[in-house]
This record gives sequence, C-alpha cells and structure tokens, in this order.
Amino acid sequence: MGLALSPLHICATDSRAANTLVDYATMQSSTDDRGRRRFFVATLTTIHAAIAGFIGVIIGGAVASPVFGREREQETWIPAGDLNSLPDNEPIPVLYRVAREDGYREIMDRRVLYLLKNGDEVTAMDTTCTHLGCPVRWDADAKAMKCPCHGGVYDKTGTVVSGPPPKPLARFTTRIDGGQILVRV
Ligand code: FES
Repeated sequence: MGLALSPLHICATDSRAANTLVDYATMQSSTDDRGRRRFFVATLTTIHAAIAGFIGVIIGGAVASPVFGREREQETWIPAGDLNSLPDNEPIPVLYRVAREDGYREIMDRRVLYLLKNGDEVTAMDTTCTHLGCPVRWDADAKAMKCPCHGGVYDKTGTVVSGPPPKPLARFTTRIDGGQILVRV
C-alpha cells in the first residue's frame, strides 16, 4: 500500500525516496509489462503454430491429391473402326474422347489420332507435334503431316522430314479384335 503512494506526494519531502519509489514503481511497471509481453508473445506463438499446422494440412492435401488421381488412372482401349474399311497406306483421322481429372473435376478432352493401315497391321499416331505440341494434320496433296506452328513436316508414318521437331510422332499400341481396331490411349 505504502508503495502505492504517488511519486508526486513523496517528491515534495525526499527526492531520493521519491526517486527510489519512482524507480521501484517503474521497475514494478516494467516487470508487469514484461510479464504481459511474455504472455502475449506466448499466446501469439501458439496461435501462429496452430495456423501454420492447419495450412500445412491444406497444402499437403493439394499436393497429395494428384497422386491419388494418377493411381486411379487405368489404360483405356478405344474402338477405332473396322479394319476392312480402312484404306491402305493413307493416314485416316479418328476423333476420340478421354476423361481426365482437373483438380476435383472430370473433363472430357476431344483428341485426334491417325490410323495407318499396312496389310493386316495398323499404326496409330498421336497428332501432337514433338516440337512444341501443336496439332499436326495430314496433307493428302503433299503426302505429309504438317505442323502449322513452325513448319515441322513428318511423313505418313510420323517420321520427321524437316523443320524443328526433334523426334517422330508418338505412337499408340493397337490390336485387332474380331476385325475391329482397338487403340490403347
Ligand atoms: S510445334 Fe510443330 S513445329 Fe513447332
């Protein structure tokens, strides 16, 4: 209680005592402040740790999800037409659809591949240019697969003839089942 006397009150009679009391009061006050500060710092640290842990769970889930998606992927065989109706040595475009995951949605992609029949064998080629991924097209007059982006040219088997493409067009595995052409995409 005595320590609660106001410094102004003491100051009038004994400045040393007043200074002592002022110092003590200051010390008391700074000790209290430090204690309060420590409490706030500890509280904030706990809150930050909790938020960081929560964000970590969210980010972990977002990173882990595509892996689960890939594990669900299965190879798909699509029917691509009748072998007997396919002309020999002429690339024929086939439109097909593939379901893929985009985040948490499923999207249907429309894609094109080329079939090339040679006797009883059928080759299926991807239309994605191996340079920067533009779609190539068969030019029946020029007898070549042409890429519109940077002038890449392939022959009917997908082999590079000229331009920047670094390698041939990718191929899909095919099989014939009861006269039907099946392509694995
Ligand atoms: S993307 Fe086909 S030549 Fe560049």
